[in-house]
Amino acid sequence: MATTITITGAGGQIGYALLFRIAAGDLLGADEKVRLRLLEIPQGLAAAEGAALELQDGAFSLLDDVEVTDDAATGFDGCNLALLVGARPRGPGMERGDLLAANAGIFGPQGSAIAAAAAADVRVTVVGNPANTNALIAAASADGVPAERFTALTRLDENRARAQLALALDAPVSSIRRVPIWGNHSATQFPDVSHATVDGRPVPTWLEQEFIPRVARRGAEIIEVRGSSSVASAANATIEHTRDWVRGTDDWTSAGVVSHGEYGVPEGLVSSFPVRSVDGEWQIVEGLELSDRARAKVDASVAELVDERETVRALGVL
Ligand SMILES: NC(=O)c1ccc[n+]([C@@H]2O[C@H](COP(=O)([O-])OP(=O)(O)OC[C@H]3O[C@@H](n4cnc5c(N)ncnc54)[C@H](O)[C@@H]3O)[C@@H](O)[C@H]2O)c1
Repeated sequence: MATTITITGAGGQIGYALLFRIAAGDLLGADEKVRLRLLEIPQGLAAAEGAALELQDGAFSLLDDVEVTDDAATGFDGCNLALLVGARPRGPGMERGDLLAANAGIFGPQGSAIAAAAAADVRVTVVGNPANTNALIAAASADGVPAERFTALTRLDENRARAQLALALDAPVSSIRRVPIWGNHSATQFPDVSHATVDGRPVPTWLEQEFIPRVARRGAEIIEVRGSSSVASAANATIEHTRDWVRGTDDWTSAGVVSHGEYGVPEGLVSSFPVRSVDGEWQIVEGLELSDRARAKVDASVAELVDERETVRALGVL
């Protein structure tokens, strides 16, 4: 049996970087057949159809079927994994409230369509920004689907953090572990080096001053240098997040998951935490000590998530 994977915004940049890696087996491994559903809005259909033609030309032995659609019920039909990439970007003159409202208009209906059409084991990775609150909205709209099945991508932030530490310490990135991201996928995120190790030894904390702003600003730096936002690295992180969720982890990583009150994060928010994946479920790593400084940084990012939830509530969405 093939796994059905729905990618929204499949005609966009991250979609294009994702599709071929999934078809090549990078998400589920070399033995697992995949069926792809490419969900777009009408303006994006031609790009998605073009990508589907190229998928055919890849002659991928793991690729059972590709369907392109702008109908959510068709797009999420029988879906086991949903990668919600398509989102409304911030336009000129758009306030944060307008952005949240526009995305609520996308992620609310998509949550309902997932509840109505997806497979019982559906897992959802939200990439489109503002990812945490979009995941919250989709979960709230998906009657009957546990909120734990909706997650937001913060793995790119963690990968950036590990890569920056590796550069600063002149160590291979594979030797750097346990650099969790806390809070929101935004400039307020807290990349936490206090538990990080390099080859099993603690990382010097003096690195923090330079390191935290560098990681939080990395998205902007990529735009300045490249002239376009992060694409392949975002697709890579999406694959790693979703693959780890399905297959498990042997150490901590980071993901935006629903809070049950852990570390004082208000219940129901989708916040990034240090997590492990065990038996197909994310588990928040509990019992970590947070210094006063770390606590203040986590609280500031979580306050932003609370504020986003209040804005969305005021719109009558939640
Ligand atoms: N969480 C992260 O770490 C992270 C990292 C990078 C980018 N992002 C976000 O990912 C999103 C996509 O980035 P991109 O570079 O691929 O953008 P893009 O503009 O190239 O592509 C977005 C695609 O989504 C489609 N789309 C819009 N609304 C849709 C809807 N309702 N249903 C289906 N498709 C829809 C558009 O037609 C477009 O083809 C953005 O919101 C971006 O901010 C998140």
